[in-house]
Amino acid sequence: MMPTAAGYRAEFPVALDRTYLISASLGPLSRRSRALAEEHLELWGRLGPEELWFEHGLPRLQECRERLAGLIGADASEIAIVPSVSAGLSSLATCLDFGARPKVVASGMDFPTNHYVWLANGRRGAKLDVAASPDGIRVEEEDLIRRIDESTAIVNTNRVLFESSWLMDLEPVVEAAHANGAYVVVDDFHGTGIVPIDVHALGIDFLLTGALKWLCGGQGIAFLYVRRELIERLEPLVVGWFGTEAPFDFDRSALRLRGDAGRFETGTYALPQAWTAAGGLGLIGEAGVTAIRAHNQELTGEVIARADELGLEVLTPRDPARRGGLVRVGIEGGRRRAEGILHALFERDVVLDSRADTLRISPHLFNDSSDVDRCFTELAELLRA
Ligand SMILES: Cc1ncc(COP(=O)(O)O)c(C=O)c1O
Repeated sequence: MMPTAAGYRAEFPVALDRTYLISASLGPLSRRSRALAEEHLELWGRLGPEELWFEHGLPRLQECRERLAGLIGADASEIAIVPSVSAGLSSLATCLDFGARPKVVASGMDFPTNHYVWLANGRRGAKLDVAASPDGIRVEEEDLIRRIDESTAIVNTNRVLFESSWLMDLEPVVEAAHANGAYVVVDDFHGTGIVPIDVHALGIDFLLTGALKWLCGGQGIAFLYVRRELIERLEPLVVGWFGTEAPFDFDRSALRLRGDAGRFETGTYALPQAWTAAGGLGLIGEAGVTAIRAHNQELTGEVIARADELGLEVLTPRDPARRGGLVRVGIEGGRRRAEGILHALFERDVVLDSRADTLRISPHLFNDSSDVDRCFTELAELLRA
């Protein structure tokens, strides 16, 4: 059971000083992650590479794989540490043969980096087929499904759409993809840690996510989940020594990729980030994603009610079952006004972000109703000015 939001607030110093409501963009630094970052510096200051890497660094990375696996219902052996979602997806794309199956079905509101990867793979024969959003809020699962056929290599979708926070129903998409022999890759950067998921129960083939948003783990570490049965069939063209069975044998005579998802790992890791990521993953795991989700839904409900009171357009699903962790509200007057208000809010220590002519508000485990209240009191004043 999750301790109160007040209990978590003390864990995140920025939340004591500022009304921090944008963990969907960057989760704040916890005391735990700071202490771990300092532990890494202390070790680096005292130890040589053998001790630092083998006794501390590689075990920390394994702790990250295990904790992330625990959050999404995977096994640690199915998790690769990758530098970014973009890098992980790019590696994965190199495993696909677009000769026989050129089609990549994608959602029209996926994060652009997903589409860039598939567009770049146009040179290798990939053809993107995009299910456009009818309203800038949702993408219809049916629209994805009717594009899937026997020429489809993979279906790419975000579980929680980053702009609107629309929550996709993945089950029918996975079913249709598998019925046609296609894979499903889910970009879950906006879902992991805030909306529960069980990758085994869902049967999805690949999932990408990163530590820096809802997981409060810092930048420089992302994760690629690969369904166990697929791993040994996949041969990425992006490789490196840490993806091989015995990197410290320094044997250049053959490429022997690891038998687990680690085959997607390449060169030297962003090791300091393993310490901060372990801290964030630990906190989220202890609080429990189900409890975090319930708390978030209460607060996003309050955000919507306050936006209604101010007459702001709510550009996020009102149905909690379809809503991820953030609420997007429209600001009349266009992008420049939205950015102006955002910066005026920063001066008042209310931290949100803006996208085009909207503001995004994303409460996390350390926020409570007083944050929503403060945000809307300041916002109301700025809108009147
Ligand atoms: C859904 C989603 N996918 C991918 C990215 C970018 O990931 P990366 O910078 O790790 O490549 C973001 C960044 O905000 C995102 O929101």
